[in-house]
Amino acid sequence: MPLQSPIHLTINGMAHAVDAPATTLLVDVLRDTLALTGTHIGCDTSQCGACNVLVDGVAVKSCTMLAGQADGRAITTIEGLGQADALHPMQAAFRAVHGLQCGFCTPGMVIAGIEMVRKHGHDLSHELIAHELEGNLCRCTGYINIIKAIAAGAKAMETADA
Ligand code: FES
Ligand code: FES
Repeated sequence: MPLQSPIHLTINGMAHAVDAPATTLLVDVLRDTLALTGTHIGCDTSQCGACNVLVDGVAVKSCTMLAGQADGRAITTIEGLGQADALHPMQAAFRAVHGLQCGFCTPGMVIAGIEMVRKHGHDLSHELIAHELEGNLCRCTGYINIIKAIAAGAKAMETADA
């Protein structure tokens, strides 16, 4: 881990050299330095998953990673998944199935859903999704529509990948 700035990060396909202490939390670099505020902070105990991002394609709670640990790595935040007129299939599924209420947990839920596809493929049972969501908290929805959205999004990703 580099002890000094700059820290080199590729974020949503763009190279950044960030001047920050290597011990800064990755989530703080994303939100405060780069203004990528779609990555949320919902707790201070590493429990809520609102801060999920993809690091080299793997979901990571960005409140648990130091910026220096991310040096040289490729990070995808919710802003990098899709555009308003061209949503990622998992984002589109959350909209179609209404897998949200206030939306605060949603970026982390979408990333968690994509991680489930990486780990388990496109055919996800509701039981598996509920189990995998152990690290993501939502205080609004009761989770039912989130689970439905992730199942639908996983299938839609298969079509999109084909
Ligand atoms: Fe990272 Fe809650 S802010 S797990
Ligand atoms: Fe509000 Fe999940 S939709 S916290």
